[in-house]
Amino acid sequence: MKKKLAALVAVIFAVVAVSTVVFAVDQGPETIVIKEVQKKKPPVTFPHRKHQEMFKDCKTCHHKTEEGGQPKACSECHGKVKEAPKFKKAMHKTCRDCHKKEKAAGKNPPTKCKECHKK
Ligand code: HEC
Ligand code: HEC
Ligand code: HEC
Ligand code: HEC
Repeated sequence: MKKKLAALVAVIFAVVAVSTVVFAVDQGPETIVIKEVQKKKPPVTFPHRKHQEMFKDCKTCHHKTEEGGQPKACSECHGKVKEAPKFKKAMHKTCRDCHKKEKAAGKNPPTKCKECHKK
């Protein structure tokens, strides 16, 4: 009886462990150097984790993510799919527009070209 119970508990633990692996969402890199286009301006160093902590909802940026789904790189569509705005436009609309709004609200995110496009 004890053995059977132990086996059952082991099975339950195994199932929980496997489903955690299957359903865990990949958080992506802590910091991302964005250099998809790179024609005129230096790359942009993006503190991804810091933004994840500020905005718990991944869809703040990863707008095409299904409920509870895995967020994908913007570059999977922007710059590739005709219906999606070009990569640079998607970035400026996402990053710069929010920063301008947050600045007006009293925070201090980078809004000038050189503050994002650093060398
Ligand atoms: C809040 C951050 C931010 C600010 C402010 C910003 N950009 Fe960008 N910009 C980006 C990001 C991110 C990309 C994508 C970079 C890449 O993929 O190479 C980008 C891409 C670009 C690109 C295309 C990449 C290339 O090398 O040709 C140009 C040009 C550009 N920005 C110019 C500007 C100018 C000019 C300003 C100021 C008027 C500015 N940006 C302000 C974040 C910013
Ligand atoms: C403030 C905007 C923003 C927020 C919020 C955000 N991300 Fe991201 N994430 C990005 C950008 C920008 C990239 C780089 C995309 C690219 O290079 O095309 C990225 C990349 C990623 C990648 C790597 C994709 C790949 O294939 O390279 C993963 C995974 C990811 N994010 C997961 C998440 C998760 C999970 C959350 C929520 C907990 C989240 N992100 C919140 C902007 C954001
Ligand atoms: C699966 C494809 C796909 C992915 C991944 C994706 N986008 Fe988009 N995005 C689109 C399409 C298509 C549009 C055109 C409008 C629409 O269908 O919503 C768009 C529109 C936009 C717009 C313009 C919205 C407006 O109001 O004009 C922004 C900004 C944007 N995306 C940013 C991002 C960022 C930032 C990421 C990554 C964090 C990202 N997108 C990932 C497909 C995608
Ligand atoms: C929804 C709003 C929002 C979006 C979208 C967003 N940011 Fe930010 N960002 C912020 C806020 C708020 C801060 C913090 C300002 C502060 O600390 O006072 C910040 C800070 C930063 C900083 C400075 C970090 C530091 O430690 O000093 C960088 C660099 C930055 N963002 C880059 C980006 C880039 C690149 C993108 C687009 C891929 C982006 N952000 C998208 C709101 C946003």
